[in-house]
Order: sequence, then C-alpha cells, then structure tokens
Amino acid sequence: MERDGSVGVALPMLPLVAVCWAVAAATGEKVLPPPSNLNYSFIQICTLNWTWNPPENISSSCDLEYSSDILIDEVSQHKNEWRKSLFRVTDTVLNKEMRFKVRSECKNGNATDRSRWVETSVAPKGIPGTAAVGLSCVWHNLEYMLCKWHPGENASSDTNYTLFYWFDGLERHKECKNYSVSQGRFECAFSLTFPQTANRYPPISILVRDDSEKIMPICAIENPTTLVKPATPRIVKLSYVNSGIHLQWSESGTIPANCLSYEVRYHNGDLTPAQTIQVKFNSTSIPSVDPNSKYTFQVRAQPKVECYSSKFYSEWSEEKSIGENPDSAFNFLLIITIPLIVMVSTIILLVYLKRLKILILPPIPDPREILKRMFGEQNEDPQSCAKEDCVNGYDRLIKEEEIHSLILIETPESSNPEKEHR
Ligand SMILES: *[C@@H]1O[C@H](CO)[C@@H](O)[C@H](O)[C@H]1NC(C)=O
Ligand SMILES: *[C@@H]1O[C@H](CO)[C@@H](O)[C@H](O)[C@H]1NC(C)=O
Ligand SMILES: *[C@@H]1O[C@H](CO)[C@@H](O)[C@H](O)[C@H]1NC(C)=O
Ligand SMILES: *[C@@H]1O[C@H](CO)[C@@H](O)[C@H](O)[C@H]1NC(C)=O
Ligand SMILES: *[C@@H]1O[C@H](CO)[C@@H](O)[C@H](O)[C@H]1NC(C)=O
Ligand SMILES: *[C@@H]1O[C@H](CO)[C@@H](O)[C@H](O)[C@H]1NC(C)=O
Ligand SMILES: *[C@@H]1O[C@H](CO)[C@@H](O)[C@H](O)[C@H]1NC(C)=O
Ligand SMILES: *[C@@H]1O[C@H](CO)[C@@H](O)[C@H](O)[C@H]1NC(C)=O
Repeated sequence: MERDGSVGVALPMLPLVAVCWAVAAATGEKVLPPPSNLNYSFIQICTLNWTWNPPENISSSCDLEYSSDILIDEVSQHKNEWRKSLFRVTDTVLNKEMRFKVRSECKNGNATDRSRWVETSVAPKGIPGTAAVGLSCVWHNLEYMLCKWHPGENASSDTNYTLFYWFDGLERHKECKNYSVSQGRFECAFSLTFPQTANRYPPISILVRDDSEKIMPICAIENPTTLVKPATPRIVKLSYVNSGIHLQWSESGTIPANCLSYEVRYHNGDLTPAQTIQVKFNSTSIPSVDPNSKYTFQVRAQPKVECYSSKFYSEWSEEKSIGENPDSAFNFLLIITIPLIVMVSTIILLVYLKRLKILILPPIPDPREILKRMFGEQNEDPQSCAKEDCVNGYDRLIKEEEIHSLILIETPESSNPEKEHR
C-alpha cells in the first residue's frame, strides 16, 4: 500500500520537472545571474534584515530589480515585493520555519529577464511544542500592555518564560518585569505610553522565550491600535431631571474624548430585562421614567473605529441605582418578619411536640419505682410467700427506702430455681 502511494505521488512530479527543463533550455542563453551572498541578520527581537549582493556582469541596459517572497512553513505569505535595494526587512515568527527567496529581474526595454530564485531559511530553534501558546495582549487605556500566554505542552512545568518588547522609538528592546502566574497562565504587564499628540502608533514586537535553548521562542508583531481597551467608566452623577434621569460618568483620561463611545445598560425594578442605549458623550438622560421605580445603571466604553481598530470594550462599570422599588418597604418588613415568624413557630412547635410526646410516650418511670411497685405486689402474693418469709417481706416493705436495695439483691437469689437444684 505504501509503495503504491509513493509512486502515485512521484508520477505527477515528472511533467513538472520536464516543464522546468524545457523553460530553462528555451531561455538558456540569456539566463540572468541570481543575486549572491543571500544572508540575514536580526536587527530587532522580531525583525530580520535579509541582505544580498547584486549579480555579476549585468549589462548597462538592464534596469535591475529584485523580486523577493516569504514562505512560512512552506506557505507563501503573498508578500512579493520588487525593489532596487539590496536588502529587505521583514518580521519573523521564530516558532515556524521562515523561508526567504529572491531573484534578479532585468527590464531590457519591454522584455523582462529573470534569474532563478536563491533562497535561505531560518529554522525554529528548540523543542517542538515548548513555545508559549495563545499569546494575547491588551493595551489598557493607552497606559499599559498586559500580555497573557500558556506554557507549551512540551515545556517543563518550571519553565520561566520571559517577555521582551520593542517598537520603533525604543533604542533597545526591553524586558517585561511585572510577571504573575495564575492557574498555569502567565501574565506580564508593562507600561506603554506615547505622547498625547501621537495619532499613529508603531507596531510593537513581542518576544516570549526562555534562557534555555530547549524552549522555542515565539514572536508576535501587533498593531497596538487593535489592542486598545478603554478604562472602566465610573458613574459619577445620577439624578432626577424634570421627569427623567440624568447620568454622567468619568472619562478615560488618556483616550481622547472623541475616540470613545459608550453603552449604557439599565433596568427598571429587579425583574424587567435590561435595555441598552448607545451614547456618544460622557453623559445621557433617560426621559420620562417611572418616579416610583428603582433604576439601575451600568456604563462601558468602546473605542471608535475612526481612532482605533480595536474591538475591546471596557468592563461594565459598577452598578448605580436611583429611586426605590415601591415594594422595598414591604421587602424590609418581610426580611424582619419572616425570621420572626419562623422563630415563634419553632418555639410553638417545640412546646407542642413536648406535649405530644407526653401523650404518646408517657414519661419513663424510674426503674426503682417499678421494681418497688412490683415487689410490693409480689410480696402480697401468697405464692411467693411460700418461698420466703411472708411476714418478714411485708415488714421490710413498710421500712425505710434504703433497706429496699437489700431486698433487690436478696430476692433474685432466693427465687432462682436453678440455683436451688444445684
Ligand atoms: C551571514 O552573515 C553572518 C554574519 O552576519 C556571517 O557570519 C555568515 O558567514 C554569513 N553567511 C553567509 C553564507 O554569507
Ligand atoms: C540591512 O542591511 C543592509 C546591509 O548591511 C544595510 O545597508 C541596511 O541599512 C540594513 N537595513 C536596516 C533597516 O537596518
Ligand atoms: C563576468 O565577466 C567577466 C569578463 O567579461 C568574466 O571573466 C567573468 O567570468 C564573468 N562572471 C560571471 C559570473 O559570469
Ligand atoms: C517592445 O516595444 C517596442 C516599442 O517600444 C515594440 O516595437 C516591440 O514590438 C516590443 N516587443 C515586444 C516583444 O513586445
Ligand atoms: C510534544 O512532543 C511530542 C514528542 O516529542 C511530539 O510528538 C508533539 O508533537 C509535541 N507537541 C507539539 C505541540 O509540538
Ligand atoms: C525558573 O526559576 C526558578 C526560580 O528562579 C528556578 O528555581 C527554576 O529552576 C527555573 N526553571 C528553569 C527551567 O530554569
Ligand atoms: C503589575 O501589573 C499589575 C497588573 O497586572 C498592576 O496592577 C501593577 O500595578 C503592576 N506593578 C508594577 C510594579 O508595575
Ligand atoms: C464630560 O465631558 C465634558 C465635555 O467633554 C467635560 O467637560 C466633563 O468634565 C466630563 N465629565 C466627566 C465626569 O468626565
């Protein structure tokens, strides 16, 4: 079966190879030499500079350009470029194989002459499955970036991942220092601010790695405007105005006011479903409300698409309420009276149960009392009188209680027929 499969794959390759040969033969005489000395170097944590030298012996009539392309894990990134310069700067991912290919293209009048491709690649370092997974970052209120990730499934549990970041404007990459680990998830926060006047933010490179060679590094390059999450608003004012309710909330402070819109969520009473309204500014009014009803509000902020291409809402603000539920006095009464009623009825029940117990199970009398009564009767019995001195027994019964215990010990022995036989 396996052989059949491999033959099946190999056969369709043949025509392709043949076509390549044919093309090479047809253009054989004027094949353009490719660029030479293709190489790369890291110029930043997640940025590569691919460099090459020009082909030799190029005719002066040639308008030379370089065409280059990028493949990640053999998949074209559709980032073909034609340039005259002898280098190309690209991002890198580090946890996948990145292949770079370049060729010379020569425009002689209206004909274009191309060289073969030359290529080189950067292979991932470290053990597969050890790179951080699910790396995601959120830029909180244009103030700090919070990144989270999980350890790779093949990484040892004591792996100490480190996060580095860089953006155009930083001389050197920096290390994020504020780490925390919760439920197996790593978190790191670093301050990220730009002058208030900036309306364009550079892409930010994030590298998560470990000092150990075994752990595969991973790079991510993010447009920070896609990561903006506004601060949670705080409702600062809630009042009745005319027949409506006016509410106002705090602004972000760092995000320009015209770059945020808001969502106000409110409900009337405790049972009605919440309504949501869209608001452009930091205050709004709900007209004609029921004055005898309690209204509860929450606000959250959303970045405007005109400013940031982020889809992160802020968290909902804390709830703030105005008015009282009409039945709240009744509720209060219930809160006080229900435990009271329960308490009183429990007491009544206990008392009643005690009485019931007396009726069903009369109080267990003192065993001594029973015995006392039994023997009192036995002694009057003429049959027992036959075994024991009847007069004596009767006399003792009349005597003090202390003596009765003596009888208790004496009588069973004397009335035991087995002992008498032995
Ligand atoms: C690539 O450049 C590095 C230095 O950046 C050098 O050590 C290496 O030999 C170069 N490789 C080739 C094939 O030129
Ligand atoms: C890339 O390398 C080339 C050749 O060393 C250099 O001229 C160019 O400035 C480098 N590009 C960047 C962005 O550093
Ligand atoms: C370039 O041309 C020179 C002289 O014309 C020749 O000696 C040399 O071999 C050529 N180099 C290449 C790479 O064809
Ligand atoms: C190239 O362009 C010239 C005119 O600029 C034209 O006469 C000629 O036919 C073109 N050649 C090809 C192969 O298109
Ligand atoms: C983890 O390691 C095993 C064995 O080396 C390998 O088969 C597996 O693919 C790795 N996991 C990942 C996510 O690469
Ligand atoms: C991670 O750091 C801790 C504390 O510094 C250390 O004990 C541990 O050995 C480190 N893990 C690795 C894989 O180096
Ligand atoms: C560390 O990050 C947390 C948020 O994850 C933040 O509240 C705290 O202020 C930060 N501490 C320092 C020293 O930056
Ligand atoms: C609401 O916005 C107005 C106008 O932008 C501003 O004057 C006011 O201070 C803001 N209020 C709060 C609570 O931020």
